[in-house]
Amino acid sequence: MRVTVQPGVMHVGEARSAPGVRVDVHVRPGDAKRALRQEVLRGLCGSPKELSPRWLYDERGSQLFDDITRLPEYYPTRREREILLAHAGDVARLSGATTLIELGSGTSEKTRLLLDAMQEAGQLSRFVPFDVSEGFLRRAAASLAREYPGVTVHAVVGDFEHHLARLPEGGRRLVAFLGGTIGNLKPPERARFLAELSSGLRPGDGLLLGTDLIKDKERLYAAYNDSAGVTAEFNRNVLRVLNRELGGNFDPDAFEHFAPYDEHNAWVEMRLVSRRAQSVWLSTLRRRVEFAEGEVLRTEVSCKFQQPRVEQELAEAGLRLVAWWTDEAGDFALSLALKQ
Ligand code: SAH
Ligand code: AVI
Repeated sequence: MRVTVQPGVMHVGEARSAPGVRVDVHVRPGDAKRALRQEVLRGLCGSPKELSPRWLYDERGSQLFDDITRLPEYYPTRREREILLAHAGDVARLSGATTLIELGSGTSEKTRLLLDAMQEAGQLSRFVPFDVSEGFLRRAAASLAREYPGVTVHAVVGDFEHHLARLPEGGRRLVAFLGGTIGNLKPPERARFLAELSSGLRPGDGLLLGTDLIKDKERLYAAYNDSAGVTAEFNRNVLRVLNRELGGNFDPDAFEHFAPYDEHNAWVEMRLVSRRAQSVWLSTLRRRVEFAEGEVLRTEVSCKFQQPRVEQELAEAGLRLVAWWTDEAGDFALSLALKQ
């Protein structure tokens, strides 16, 4: 479904979009609820239990992620900003893009460095933030429209695993996928995602990809098990989402957050571990879900990379790596790839 809200025009069932912002909505609350129901029937009623990280990002989850980015232990955001500070101008020049599309855009805070560089190069005409978290996206889009008055801000509420075919066309496009969010897709999902994204690009369009790099286990552990407990709250928040959306009676405190690094898969795995044997009722599904003591619900994987793997996965999708930049410490990487 495609609902387009023109600047300042009120549509039935739509919040007013801010002046100067166009918003396309491809995920409506009813669709999200249906998708969640199906996923819970598959992912919570079997073993091992698992949910997609998409459900971590309701309004509160999006805010908690933003808090995570400022934690002393969580280095990826700071490292990626360091790379953008050094190379945003190179990205603008090498991509030659006039439209910047950002997948999983969140607050688009670091993205301003790219927008500034593209504007300085006199080539920025449109910004397309794309996210599943509608309220957050609308607010970010409104701020960006105020900060970049000459730029068309066209926000898209969508799921990057389902709605890539709906990315706006036109101009030379650069798709930014920052923060390491691609690592939240497992290898087969990632291959599907890259193939679908690439198939919608035209030769010369680009992808700017942020990937977190393999490093010692202790630092990874600290980044995902922070001492202030913010990541734990972010993780448990998914249980509040299930309570609200599916009439559940989860007690978030009955689950412990634990995020170990799995060297074999090269990913950090975010888990909720049941502190005791318990039974949870989901009234919308008329289902009872049983947890044994110590049973794990996996809520996210966060894959860590090395350059050859990134280059190979991009190449398999028809995207040629033209630049690979890391921060000084070699913690995080930004890749620029062009569609062949
Ligand atoms: N790019 C930002 C935010 C990363 S957090 C940064 O680098 O800091 C991940 C973002 O992806 C969140 O804003 C979340 O709402 C969004 N997201 C998660 N799953 C998504 C999906 N399937 N489709 C679209 N957006 C998604
Ligand atoms: C959004 N994504 C890249 C974050 C990550 O590091 O995988 C989400 C996150 N999970 C726990 N902390 C942060």
